[in-house]
Amino acid sequence: MSEFAELKINGQSYNLPLVTGTENEVGINIGKLRAETGAITVDPGYKNTGSTSSAITYLDGENGVLRYRGYSIEEVAEKADFLEVTYLLIYGELPTQEQYDNFVADIKKHTLIHEDVRKILEGFPSNAHPMGVLSSLVCSMTAFYPESLDPNRSSDEVDLSIVRILAKLPTMAAWAYKNEQGHPVNYPDNTLSYTENFLKMMFAVPAEDYKVDPVIAKALNKLLILHADHEQNCSASTVRIVGSSHASLYASISAGINALWGPLHGGANQAVIEMLENIRKDGGDVAKYMAKAKDKDDPFRLMGFGHRVYKNFDPRARIIKKAADDVLTALGVNDPVLEIAKGLEQIALEDEYFVARKLYPNVDFYSGIIYRALGIPTEMFTVMFAMGRLPGWIAQWKEMRENHEPIGRPRQIYTGYNERSFVAMGDR
Ligand code: CMC
Repeated sequence: MSEFAELKINGQSYNLPLVTGTENEVGINIGKLRAETGAITVDPGYKNTGSTSSAITYLDGENGVLRYRGYSIEEVAEKADFLEVTYLLIYGELPTQEQYDNFVADIKKHTLIHEDVRKILEGFPSNAHPMGVLSSLVCSMTAFYPESLDPNRSSDEVDLSIVRILAKLPTMAAWAYKNEQGHPVNYPDNTLSYTENFLKMMFAVPAEDYKVDPVIAKALNKLLILHADHEQNCSASTVRIVGSSHASLYASISAGINALWGPLHGGANQAVIEMLENIRKDGGDVAKYMAKAKDKDDPFRLMGFGHRVYKNFDPRARIIKKAADDVLTALGVNDPVLEIAKGLEQIALEDEYFVARKLYPNVDFYSGIIYRALGIPTEMFTVMFAMGRLPGWIAQWKEMRENHEPIGRPRQIYTGYNERSFVAMGDR
């Protein structure tokens, strides 16, 4: 294959070098395009723009392939523990038993959060959305660990910042929920696993002996793994671009949480359940909502459907759909919205509009149904996504720093006024 792409502008030819990945995907390096031709490329939404080269996650949207550091999502979701996957994403290899034990022990040392953070939490009104609370508390870590502000520290010091946020995010997430309920917070229980500890902080109430249901802990482990990374999505790109200014890990992750919040990204899991509930309350007429989703004059979209990169199926959605059936059966839950979801999917998979646009259920279509069965309230769904995505954000930030990537700074095509003279106030 040629090593260059040829570009012709106004009759003049330019050679642009090709970049090839380990899975033979091809990119055209346009780094010198403007310097040599005066032109830039334009690609709103970065639909066709590679912002970086990365060795973390491989995704083939046409064939529904997703791999973390070379391991298929199907295999890791079936066989791994979330902290094992966390280690894999951040450090590049599966941990040995000793590395895993040390990693888990380090995380357990840092699960408590400073009591003054509780005061910040208590300053939020109880109706504050937990995603806003979470991103604020994560950003407050910059104040409690000011040394973390310098991202150019030794790798041991960066590792300590990493372990701290991995340890504290579940505590912050559970506390955001308790604050919303107006209930006292629970402190971490380090005799438990990562997921069990989170569930206990979420659901234990004073004077009751809370026992974690192993079915729930196992399902949560799988959900967190399925969300752990997804290469250069909106929130990961946000983390990388914020970090590219040499902002700290905590500032970058806090920005990533805010990017995830929107309903077109991680907020879709909350939006899906709200949509399914609305359809149920409206009599369950699935066909009516399919028609609304196709009507260009109607702002309604089928939430949990479609994906920027998956154009055949989302492998995470397949795993989650099966897990939803298993979890609901194991817990003896009969959720009527599961049937509505399956009905919508069935129609969409055969509908010309959805088939032509390659719109399929994404990871968020069924995840909310499982979260609901696990007892997680709707407004916490995106927080669960954030807990799952944390290792991916950390891995993306760390890779970007270690590769010494330049500051992220896109260009634009200006469409405003040409130069004009200032008009004094009285003459306007
Ligand atoms: N319902 C109805 N029509 C849709 C939908 C949908 N959910 N998604 C896309 N379309 C149509 C869209 O109107 C457009 O049609 P046309 O070509 O006639 O104008 C076409 O499909 C292409 O859509 P697009 O908006 O240009 O595609 P995109 O790549 O910019 O957006 C998306 C991807 C995920 C934002 C979009 O599919 C969407 O809004 N889906 C619903 C929200 C959702 O479930 N988001 C979660 C994504 S997965 C979790 C994550 O990792 O973030």
